Amino acid sequence: MGEKEKLNGLHGYNLQNPKFKFCENIKNLMQIIPGSQGLLGVKLSRLTGFSLGYVQLEKLPSGEKYIRVPQPPENAVIVNSLAYKPDEMIMESILIAETLREYGSKKVYGVFPYMPYSRKRFIKGEAFPAKTLISNFFSVFDKIYVVDYHLEDYINEISKKIEIYNISAMEKLAEVAESLDVKDPIVVSPDEEGVRWASRFSKKLNIDYFYLTKIRVDAENVVIASKPPDVKDRDIFIVDDMISAGSTVIQAVKVLKKAKCRKIYVFSTHVLAKTETLRKIYEVGVEEIYGTDTVPSPVSKVSVSELIAKALKS
Ligand code: R5P
Repeated sequence: MGEKEKLNGLHGYNLQNPKFKFCENIKNLMQIIPGSQGLLGVKLSRLTGFSLGYVQLEKLPSGEKYIRVPQPPENAVIVNSLAYKPDEMIMESILIAETLREYGSKKVYGVFPYMPYSRKRFIKGEAFPAKTLISNFFSVFDKIYVVDYHLEDYINEISKKIEIYNISAMEKLAEVAESLDVKDPIVVSPDEEGVRWASRFSKKLNIDYFYLTKIRVDAENVVIASKPPDVKDRDIFIVDDMISAGSTVIQAVKVLKKAKCRKIYVFSTHVLAKTETLRKIYEVGVEEIYGTDTVPSPVSKVSVSELIAKALKS
């Protein structure tokens, strides 16, 4: 049996079908394997033309994961959202990757659009999980694809050793802002760290941005310590990479409203906030919140699938 026939049998492709032309180059054979939070994998399969693979995933009564990969492809792209249940999803993704390799996959790529444990340590003695994750989790994969990774400078340094593809959703989010009917808009980053996202966003719109100074009190509370410039009667685009407890956005909105701005729109790549938190953000006077599908949420209005598909095919 030739290589093509073997693959036909294994993966159920009909290589004569022009739809599956990409399979003719066996070396490039790639299959998308969604994890239990890997819905985005379906979109990626459609956009890339890579077939959708299957992995049997079960949770045992003991809480452990049961994983079986019936037909490991030559090259696999595991797609999983690591949001909400980060520890479980990280473990699950490692198990899928190692099982694929054990049973024959040559290359295993990971698409984890939202990377948890990516915020900085602040106080001496605090754990620095981003470092642990990078040295232990990232190395399981031949290449990792992430979107708007929080510690961008850190990852840039690391990516000299490990293959990491950090994609930004800011231009995509800015396209939505472009379509809004707004008056004299200005972009605001709620803290100094977020300047990299606000500047990208504002560049796409060709408008100005400024940042506020934020002091984090604890995981749930922040204080905005600076006064905004004159924003009277101007519409505002608050831009941030993530919304979690929501206090950053809420406090920024309060300060901007006090400065008599007009409408406020919030744009964020990873919206991890609970529905209750989203309600509070609307209640302080936000017109609309726009998030992406890196994290499934009620405000995931923008898809990053095209950006990731392009990166996977490049
Ligand atoms: C912080 O550095 C991030 O860019 C976000 O501003 C922050 O993670 C938002 O957190 P929260 O919604 O919990 O205030």
